[in-house]
Amino acid sequence: MSETLSKDSKLQQEIDQLREILRDHNYRYYVLDDPQVPDAEYDRLFRQLKKIEEENPDLITPDSPTQRVGAQALDEFHQVTHRVPMLSLDNVFNEEELQAFDKRLKDRLDSEDTVEYVCEPKLDGLAVSLIYENGLLVQAATRGDGQTGEDITQNIRTIGSIPLKLIGSGYPSQLEVRGEVFMPLPGFNRMNQKAAENGDKVFANPRNAAAGSLRQLDSKITATRPLDMYCYSIGFVEGGEMPQRHFDILQQLKEWGFKINPEIRLAQGAEQCQQYHDDILAKRDKLPYEIDGIVYKVNDIGLQQRLGFVSRAPRWATAHKFPAQEELTTLLDVEFQVGRTGALTPVARLEPVSVGGVTVSNATLHNMDEVERMGLCIGDTVVIYRAGDVIPKVVRPIPEKRPADAEPIVMPTHCPVCDSAIEKHADEAVARCSGGLYCQAQVKEAIKHFASRRAMDVDGLGDKLVEQFVDEGLIKHVADLFHLTVEQVAGLERMGEKSAKNLIDALEASKATTLQRFIYGLGIREVGEATALNLANFYGSLENVQQASQESLLSVPDVGPVVAEHIHRFFQQSHNLEVIHDLQNSGVHWPEVEVDHEAEKPLEGLTYVLTGTLSQMGRDQAKQYLQQLGAKVSGSVSKKTHCVVAGENAGSKLTKAESLGIDILDEEGFISFLREQQLLD
Ligand code: IVH
Repeated sequence: MSETLSKDSKLQQEIDQLREILRDHNYRYYVLDDPQVPDAEYDRLFRQLKKIEEENPDLITPDSPTQRVGAQALDEFHQVTHRVPMLSLDNVFNEEELQAFDKRLKDRLDSEDTVEYVCEPKLDGLAVSLIYENGLLVQAATRGDGQTGEDITQNIRTIGSIPLKLIGSGYPSQLEVRGEVFMPLPGFNRMNQKAAENGDKVFANPRNAAAGSLRQLDSKITATRPLDMYCYSIGFVEGGEMPQRHFDILQQLKEWGFKINPEIRLAQGAEQCQQYHDDILAKRDKLPYEIDGIVYKVNDIGLQQRLGFVSRAPRWATAHKFPAQEELTTLLDVEFQVGRTGALTPVARLEPVSVGGVTVSNATLHNMDEVERMGLCIGDTVVIYRAGDVIPKVVRPIPEKRPADAEPIVMPTHCPVCDSAIEKHADEAVARCSGGLYCQAQVKEAIKHFASRRAMDVDGLGDKLVEQFVDEGLIKHVADLFHLTVEQVAGLERMGEKSAKNLIDALEASKATTLQRFIYGLGIREVGEATALNLANFYGSLENVQQASQESLLSVPDVGPVVAEHIHRFFQQSHNLEVIHDLQNSGVHWPEVEVDHEAEKPLEGLTYVLTGTLSQMGRDQAKQYLQQLGAKVSGSVSKKTHCVVAGENAGSKLTKAESLGIDILDEEGFISFLREQQLLD
């Protein structure tokens, strides 16, 4: 009996420990954005916990890191009544209105004292309420009409930066935390790009994407969406005390594991608030999320209580709105751009309009499915949206404003650049020009790709120059690059003798490359850097890749039937082989890649970390060498790291490696190691 008990308690201990470790990794990854272990290590621990839980289902608890995604989809969302209503905010639109707001407060408080404010970016997402009981997340709800919202607990639990269990201690037994759920721009762009490629619906903006993601009845779908949350206030509190200043409340929430916007600052009086507004507005386009203004809140909770509320907004806070990012304009025309792989993208030509301070006269329409979905016509009045690093886009037409002479948008039957036939496969969302390297547009894009940093890395060969070369008839395909002469280049507009010579030197230098870069540079459809590396390592030589059958290609890591077919077809085409031949004749070369599938890679199973600046090669290059030797290259130093390659000005990673007693290679040591491995001359 006692034996079983101790066995059970040992198991419980193991589970508790694993959960604690996973929670901590999760927190460092999602909240601090500073992962301590490689993803693979996290996955391993996760699987370990999952396995124990599967074998002992009675030990599963809702706060376990394995329980973020719900097992079953819901039929509907239940209504939830907010114990403390979720209010909205009044707005100010300029400095005078901000000063008037500040003055109103002072008048009401009957004091001349400068008011201390907390200034926060106003995120453009969705307000949610999270309820924690004894530190465990028990309910999450949307704002709804402020009185009643919807129970979205199952979906909120999938957001990695939201704690299922609070960290530390001292939290009230009942605590409601409020904040904004949003979709960061990089994730939003990635998601939309994928959707456009697959012919799926693209979201008009990150806010809609976040809203759509939270409205899923199946939390498995929500779990795939890159959502995040910044907390900005509390609701009801019972069984515990909270600080008496808003700023301190936020710091406290941060200690319990929530994410708080790092831009939040204190300001003394209206003038400093305005300064904060101007600073944030200036960097709005660089922030990795959308904001539509600033929120100013009186810091002192006692003063907040004295000021109280008017109808549905607090008197002690206001939103300072930024200029709109959506505007109306006219769709003048639709042109079709041809990409590297021939894909045709409809591009809207617009009556120029200022959106959020930038003049927009072109916007992407993604693909024809999207155009049809919107029912767009030339001549329509359209809503244009632009934000941050998002390419301006047409959101929707306003059908009521459609003029009588509006024209439908039709996909051309022939390429607008080379007049070859346009093809559209039934299983693909995009239509393509069939001209291949005959099409100047595709040639230009192919050359830009070939010369790009991660491919042949031709220093100084920018997009404009490539276009000039092709337009002037100096080059017809990538191999012609190496036939250019200083005289030809110097003859171009805005090109001196000196820069022409530099370019020719750079072209010459780029000839010494690697097999991986070369394969990647060829621009075979779906062959990115990772696949190129796998091909190089698997086959060892270009000849072997060229001759590989589709079946053999399927044995290469990462290569599926579609990619295998693209690769095979590429090397079947004689014009591609001629270009490759020409390139090799011009002197493009790479060190031999040794393949012996049985042979051990010297760094197999080892984890390397790169830090600091290497003077003789870029970080991408160093990473490639390490991977080629079998190492896993991680972004952070942990006990699992085997070696750190430290260049100039290496910082905290180096210090950490030293404290953990991990091997450290300086640049010189690294280079001589690469020489020993015959990766460098
Ligand atoms: S405070 C009583 N802080 O703006 C104060 N709201 O118009 C209530 N929002 O529904 C909100 N960022 O969704 C606050 N830092 C921030 C905010 C923020 C975005 C949204 C929130 C709210 C709306 C109010």
